[in-house]
Amino acid sequence: MLRTGFLGYPTTFMLDFVVCALVLVVPLLLYSLWLVKVRRQYRAHKRLQIILGVILLAAVTAFEVDVQYVHGGWEKIVARQGLDEAALAAKLAAVWPWLKIHLMFAITTPFLWVATIVLALRRFGTDPRPGRHSRLHSVLGWASTVDITLTSVTGLAFYYVAFVQ
Ligand code: HEM
Repeated sequence: MLRTGFLGYPTTFMLDFVVCALVLVVPLLLYSLWLVKVRRQYRAHKRLQIILGVILLAAVTAFEVDVQYVHGGWEKIVARQGLDEAALAAKLAAVWPWLKIHLMFAITTPFLWVATIVLALRRFGTDPRPGRHSRLHSVLGWASTVDITLTSVTGLAFYYVAFVQ
Protein backbone atom coordinates (compact mmCIF):
# COMPACT_ATOMS: atom_id res chain seq x y z
CA MET A 1 0.00 0.00 0.00
CA LEU A 2 2.86 2.38 0.86
CA ARG A 3 4.27 2.02 -2.64
CA THR A 4 1.49 4.06 -4.27
CA GLY A 5 0.07 7.52 -3.62
CA PHE A 6 -3.50 8.33 -2.56
CA LEU A 7 -4.09 11.64 -4.39
CA GLY A 8 -4.68 9.97 -7.75
CA TYR A 9 -1.28 10.54 -9.37
CA PRO A 10 1.58 8.08 -10.05
CA THR A 11 3.47 8.83 -6.83
CA THR A 12 4.18 7.16 -3.46
CA PHE A 13 2.30 7.21 -0.16
CA MET A 14 4.99 9.27 1.58
CA LEU A 15 5.20 11.79 -1.26
CA ASP A 16 1.45 12.42 -1.03
CA PHE A 17 1.63 12.46 2.77
CA VAL A 18 4.34 15.14 2.79
CA VAL A 19 2.44 17.22 0.21
CA CYS A 20 -0.60 17.17 2.51
CA ALA A 21 1.58 18.08 5.52
CA LEU A 22 3.07 21.02 3.58
CA VAL A 23 -0.40 22.28 2.70
CA LEU A 24 -1.63 21.94 6.31
CA VAL A 25 1.38 23.58 7.94
CA VAL A 26 0.69 27.04 6.45
CA PRO A 27 -2.79 27.60 7.97
CA LEU A 28 -1.62 26.07 11.28
CA LEU A 29 1.30 28.48 11.31
CA LEU A 30 -1.03 31.42 10.59
CA TYR A 31 -3.20 30.25 13.49
CA SER A 32 -0.14 30.14 15.77
CA LEU A 33 0.82 33.69 14.72
CA TRP A 34 -2.73 34.87 15.38
CA LEU A 35 -2.52 33.25 18.84
CA VAL A 36 0.67 35.13 19.66
CA LYS A 37 0.08 38.49 17.94
CA VAL A 38 -3.66 38.98 18.53
CA ARG A 39 -4.59 36.79 21.51
CA ARG A 40 -1.20 37.05 23.26
CA GLN A 41 -1.43 33.34 24.14
CA TYR A 42 2.29 32.69 24.37
CA ARG A 43 2.07 29.20 25.86
CA ALA A 44 -0.34 28.03 23.16
CA HIS A 45 1.96 29.50 20.47
CA LYS A 46 4.93 27.71 22.03
CA ARG A 47 3.08 24.37 22.19
CA LEU A 48 1.82 24.59 18.61
CA GLN A 49 5.23 25.57 17.21
CA ILE A 50 6.94 22.66 18.96
CA ILE A 51 4.28 20.19 17.77
CA LEU A 52 4.55 21.55 14.19
CA GLY A 53 8.36 21.35 14.32
CA VAL A 54 8.40 17.74 15.57
CA ILE A 55 5.74 16.58 13.07
CA LEU A 56 7.51 18.30 10.16
CA LEU A 57 10.89 16.88 11.09
CA ALA A 58 9.50 13.34 11.50
CA ALA A 59 7.50 13.55 8.25
CA VAL A 60 10.41 14.90 6.20
CA THR A 61 12.88 12.34 7.63
CA ALA A 62 10.51 9.45 6.89
CA PHE A 63 9.91 10.93 3.43
CA GLU A 64 13.61 11.19 2.59
CA VAL A 65 14.31 7.62 3.74
CA ASP A 66 11.34 6.39 1.70
CA VAL A 67 12.21 8.27 -1.52
CA GLN A 68 15.96 7.60 -1.42
CA TYR A 69 16.20 4.08 0.01
CA VAL A 70 12.84 2.43 -0.70
CA HIS A 71 12.12 3.91 -4.13
CA GLY A 72 15.67 4.70 -5.30
CA GLY A 73 15.22 8.45 -5.91
CA TRP A 74 12.56 10.77 -7.31
CA GLU A 75 13.61 10.03 -10.91
CA LYS A 76 12.54 6.39 -10.45
CA ILE A 77 9.13 7.58 -9.26
CA VAL A 78 8.73 9.84 -12.33
CA ALA A 79 9.78 6.86 -14.48
CA ARG A 80 6.60 5.04 -13.37
CA GLN A 81 4.64 7.33 -15.71
CA GLY A 82 5.52 4.95 -18.56
CA LEU A 83 7.15 7.60 -20.79
CA ASP A 84 9.56 6.48 -23.50
CA GLU A 85 13.27 7.09 -22.92
CA ALA A 86 13.46 10.46 -24.74
CA ALA A 87 10.27 11.81 -23.15
CA LEU A 88 11.45 10.72 -19.70
CA ALA A 89 14.84 12.45 -20.18
CA ALA A 90 13.06 15.63 -21.34
CA LYS A 91 10.69 15.52 -18.38
CA LEU A 92 13.50 15.01 -15.84
CA ALA A 93 15.43 17.93 -17.39
CA ALA A 94 12.35 20.17 -17.24
CA VAL A 95 11.55 19.24 -13.64
CA TRP A 96 15.10 19.57 -12.21
CA PRO A 97 15.12 23.43 -12.02
CA TRP A 98 11.88 23.33 -9.99
CA LEU A 99 13.42 20.84 -7.60
CA LYS A 100 16.56 22.98 -7.21
CA ILE A 101 14.49 26.02 -6.22
CA HIS A 102 12.47 23.89 -3.79
CA LEU A 103 15.64 22.43 -2.22
CA MET A 104 17.03 25.91 -1.50
CA PHE A 105 14.14 26.52 0.88
CA ALA A 106 13.65 22.91 2.05
CA ILE A 107 17.29 22.57 3.20
CA THR A 108 17.49 25.88 5.08
CA THR A 109 14.09 25.53 6.81
CA PRO A 110 14.99 22.79 9.36
CA PHE A 111 18.11 24.73 10.48
CA LEU A 112 16.09 27.93 10.98
CA TRP A 113 13.30 26.10 12.80
CA VAL A 114 15.69 24.26 15.12
CA ALA A 115 17.57 27.53 15.90
CA THR A 116 14.28 29.41 16.50
CA ILE A 117 12.83 26.74 18.79
CA VAL A 118 16.03 25.95 20.73
CA LEU A 119 16.82 29.63 21.40
CA ALA A 120 13.20 30.40 22.30
CA LEU A 121 13.06 27.47 24.76
CA ARG A 122 16.34 28.52 26.37
CA ARG A 123 15.74 32.26 26.52
CA PHE A 124 11.98 32.64 27.05
CA GLY A 125 12.04 29.93 29.75
CA THR A 126 9.05 27.96 31.01
CA ASP A 127 6.67 30.94 31.10
CA PRO A 128 7.16 32.55 27.65
CA ARG A 129 6.31 36.25 27.32
CA PRO A 130 7.82 39.29 25.55
CA GLY A 131 11.28 40.11 26.88
CA ARG A 132 14.94 40.47 25.99
CA HIS A 133 14.83 37.65 23.45
CA SER A 134 11.87 39.21 21.56
CA ARG A 135 13.90 41.10 18.94
CA LEU A 136 15.99 38.12 17.85
CA HIS A 137 12.98 35.79 18.10
CA SER A 138 10.99 38.12 15.86
CA VAL A 139 13.72 38.01 13.16
CA LEU A 140 14.18 34.21 13.42
CA GLY A 141 10.42 33.61 13.73
CA TRP A 142 9.53 35.59 10.60
CA ALA A 143 12.47 34.08 8.67
CA SER A 144 11.28 30.57 9.67
CA THR A 145 7.72 31.47 8.69
CA VAL A 146 8.70 32.78 5.23
CA ASP A 147 11.07 29.83 4.64
CA ILE A 148 8.52 27.11 5.46
CA THR A 149 5.86 28.90 3.37
CA LEU A 150 8.21 29.04 0.36
CA THR A 151 9.18 25.40 0.99
CA SER A 152 5.49 24.57 0.81
CA VAL A 153 4.72 26.63 -2.31
CA THR A 154 7.78 25.43 -4.26
CA GLY A 155 7.20 21.82 -3.07
CA LEU A 156 3.67 21.93 -4.47
CA ALA A 157 4.97 23.43 -7.73
CA PHE A 158 7.52 20.59 -8.00
CA TYR A 159 4.83 17.99 -7.29
CA TYR A 160 2.65 19.54 -9.99
CA VAL A 161 5.26 19.67 -12.77
CA ALA A 162 6.72 16.25 -11.89
CA PHE A 163 3.62 14.17 -11.20
CA VAL A 164 0.42 15.96 -12.23
CA GLN A 165 1.24 17.78 -15.47
C1 HEM B 1 9.88 27.68 14.60
C2 HEM B 1 9.14 28.00 15.65
C3 HEM B 1 8.59 29.39 15.89
C4 HEM B 1 8.24 30.35 14.98
C5 HEM B 1 8.26 30.26 13.44
C6 HEM B 1 7.79 31.50 15.73
C7 HEM B 1 7.36 32.69 15.16
C8 HEM B 1 7.01 33.81 15.88
C9 HEM B 1 6.64 35.08 15.28
C10 HEM B 1 6.62 35.38 13.78
C11 HEM B 1 6.35 35.94 16.30
C12 HEM B 1 5.87 37.38 16.16
C13 HEM B 1 7.05 38.32 16.28
C14 HEM B 1 6.60 39.76 16.14
O1 HEM B 1 6.41 40.21 15.00
O2 HEM B 1 6.37 40.40 17.16
C15 HEM B 1 6.51 35.20 17.55
C16 HEM B 1 6.33 35.73 18.81
C17 HEM B 1 6.59 35.07 19.98
N1 HEM B 1 6.99 33.76 20.12
FE1 HEM B 1 7.43 32.49 18.61
N2 HEM B 1 7.88 31.21 17.08
C18 HEM B 1 8.36 29.94 17.22
C19 HEM B 1 8.60 29.25 18.41
C20 HEM B 1 8.42 29.78 19.66
C21 HEM B 1 8.69 29.07 20.90
C22 HEM B 1 9.20 27.62 20.99
C23 HEM B 1 8.39 29.94 21.92
C24 HEM B 1 8.50 29.76 23.40
C25 HEM B 1 9.42 29.03 24.00
C26 HEM B 1 7.95 31.19 21.32
C27 HEM B 1 7.56 32.30 22.01
C28 HEM B 1 7.16 33.49 21.46
C29 HEM B 1 6.84 34.68 22.22
C30 HEM B 1 6.92 34.85 23.75
C31 HEM B 1 6.48 35.67 21.29
C32 HEM B 1 6.07 37.11 21.60
C33 HEM B 1 7.29 37.98 21.49
C34 HEM B 1 6.94 39.44 21.60
O3 HEM B 1 5.81 39.82 21.29
O4 HEM B 1 7.81 40.21 21.98
N3 HEM B 1 7.96 31.04 19.94
N4 HEM B 1 6.93 33.93 17.25
